[in-house]
Amino acid sequence: MILTVTPNPCVDKTVFIDELRVGSFMRSPRYTCIPGGKGTNVSRAVKNLGRDTRALVVVGGHPGAHVVEMLERQDGVECVPVWVGDQTRTITTVLEEKIHRQTAFFEPGPRVTPEEERKFEETFCAALVGARVVTFNGTVPDPAIKGIYARLIRHAADAGAITVLDSHGPELGLGIDAAPFMCKPNIAEAEELVGYALGTDKSRLEAVDWFHAKGVKLVVLSLGKSGAIVSDGQTRLRAVPPEIQEVNPVGSGDALVAGFAIGLMEAMSLHDTVRLAIAAGAANAMSWDIGHFDRTLVENLSAQVQISLC
Ligand SMILES: Nc1ncnc2c1ncn2[C@@H]1O[C@H](COP(=O)(O)OP(=O)(O)OP(=O)(O)O)[C@@H](O)[C@H]1O
Ligand SMILES: [Mg+2]
Repeated sequence: MILTVTPNPCVDKTVFIDELRVGSFMRSPRYTCIPGGKGTNVSRAVKNLGRDTRALVVVGGHPGAHVVEMLERQDGVECVPVWVGDQTRTITTVLEEKIHRQTAFFEPGPRVTPEEERKFEETFCAALVGARVVTFNGTVPDPAIKGIYARLIRHAADAGAITVLDSHGPELGLGIDAAPFMCKPNIAEAEELVGYALGTDKSRLEAVDWFHAKGVKLVVLSLGKSGAIVSDGQTRLRAVPPEIQEVNPVGSGDALVAGFAIGLMEAMSLHDTVRLAIAAGAANAMSWDIGHFDRTLVENLSAQVQISLC
């Protein structure tokens, strides 16, 4: 089973309109609403790929209850909620269908008290039972708990689980101190951490080595539609997805993480894991809905992923 951890989930609402007129009242004929916040996307993708997953989410108030209900009823994902007194955020995206432009509004996440942080840690340790792979996804809602990933990664490793960290900013930097098995930064996230621009292949490979030097065994530097650089410390691969009709690449990194989590759980070869993960990322980008791709599509795309040594 793959346990995903989302400390800062959200009600992820998309309102579809023709064209945004700033300063006016706009009516929308259609909207979608899904549980968001990265780990939830990973769980949805894992479920769509036919594997078992459980989603630990830190949630509060009615929006928090909505996140849990959507995950369980819409996505069929078993949820482990950690309830906090403050309210889960809603992210509202306005999608202008005429010009295909997105504008998103992020509310702040809930505050987390020291007692709630302890409850988070305890609930996590209990949820580890049966988890082969644990993914830590996204940011934390309150800077006061920015160091929590490092503690949870150590608990998971002590329990014999494989750990995957996909975050950015202080959460990523502090989480790496606990040497997660795998990290999946995109270029911007890696640049923020290593402190130099990653415009060239040479600098990208240096950044990969930077992660290895921190004790990360499997480094996946994702490059959007150009694919990814994957390194297990011995083999360095460049993986290029097939050309697809891009509709919405948001959440492709989460789909990529889902593919890697499955490969690690099932001890697939590095090549097969990369094929599955890159195909999942591409499949996600082909529709608006995050993590809602078809398993057969992923299988077809995986045969078209190009892998070479770098
Ligand atoms: N337009 C695209 N066409 C084909 N594959 C894509 C496309 N966009 C993304 N991918 C695949 O998905 C993977 C992850 O995408 P990306 O690097 O954008 O992740 P990300 O920035 O972490 O995204 P997010 O955080 O929104 O999930 C890429 O490595 C690539 O294989
Ligand atoms: Mg990402």
